[in-house]
Amino acid sequence: MALFSKNKTIQKSDILKKPLPKHIAIIMDGNGRWATNRGLPRVAGHRAGVETLKQIIEFCVEINISYLTVYAFSTENWKRPKEEVNTLMNLVVEYIERELDLLDRNGIKINPIGILDELPEKTLEYIKKAAEKTKDNNKLVLNVALNYGGRAEITQAVKKICQKIANGEITPQDINEDLISRFLYTSNMPDPDLLIRPSGEMRLSNFLLWQIAYSELWVTNVLWPDFKPQHLINAIYDFQNRDRRFGGINLS
Ligand code: IPE
Ligand code: IPE
Ligand code: MG
Repeated sequence: MALFSKNKTIQKSDILKKPLPKHIAIIMDGNGRWATNRGLPRVAGHRAGVETLKQIIEFCVEINISYLTVYAFSTENWKRPKEEVNTLMNLVVEYIERELDLLDRNGIKINPIGILDELPEKTLEYIKKAAEKTKDNNKLVLNVALNYGGRAEITQAVKKICQKIANGEITPQDINEDLISRFLYTSNMPDPDLLIRPSGEMRLSNFLLWQIAYSELWVTNVLWPDFKPQHLINAIYDFQNRDRRFGGINLS
């Protein structure tokens, strides 16, 4: 439910009056349907989706968002036809080739998250290069979830924690929520305040399962290639008007 009036367009200046989310997570979904609706091959939708990502990153920098996590490829997306998977992996390379200098100049730290060593060699090479070149930037941390799955992330954390116990470095009594968080890809980052899913699907599709425990969800039927900064403004405006109780009650 949108809390803004249907007749009034929410402006950037409206959302800057209140605290912004520190961390926004987006499931970039709907590329295939966008292309199919236009009689185009699905890959055309992925190309259009990259353009949306560029605009949204720029807008996040403009309004000073500190962390943006985008779901680019899930551990389940390998089930897709080989050509589509290859195109997606090549798009990552193309995007980095084309945009890395600009991203770097804008102070963006590219932080790929997921089971990276299963990615094709060239994709891995480019994302490593992007991460290395931008590692000291601090304007916006851009977590790019590639071959990412929330369950896989928690599984690798459990393995590492068990290894520490086996090495005698920690005991089971040392395990608490903070410790588990430190073994996730997002260690030392705040959890997402706002999770956005375009394309109307009401599911999480294995994204950030641990981190979104108390994130505010915002779903729109707009497909990712049609998603504009204005939609992000609307999402943030709604977010700012939600009552985040974290299990407590508001006495006012
Ligand atoms: C999201 O768009 C991109 C990836 C999953 C890589 P989709 O390709 O899932 O688009 P739809 O959901 O089929 O429309
Ligand atoms: C989630 O979208 C993954 C990404 C956007 C990268 P999917 O299109 O893969 O999710 P499902 O299959 O609809 O759950
Ligand atoms: Mg999809």
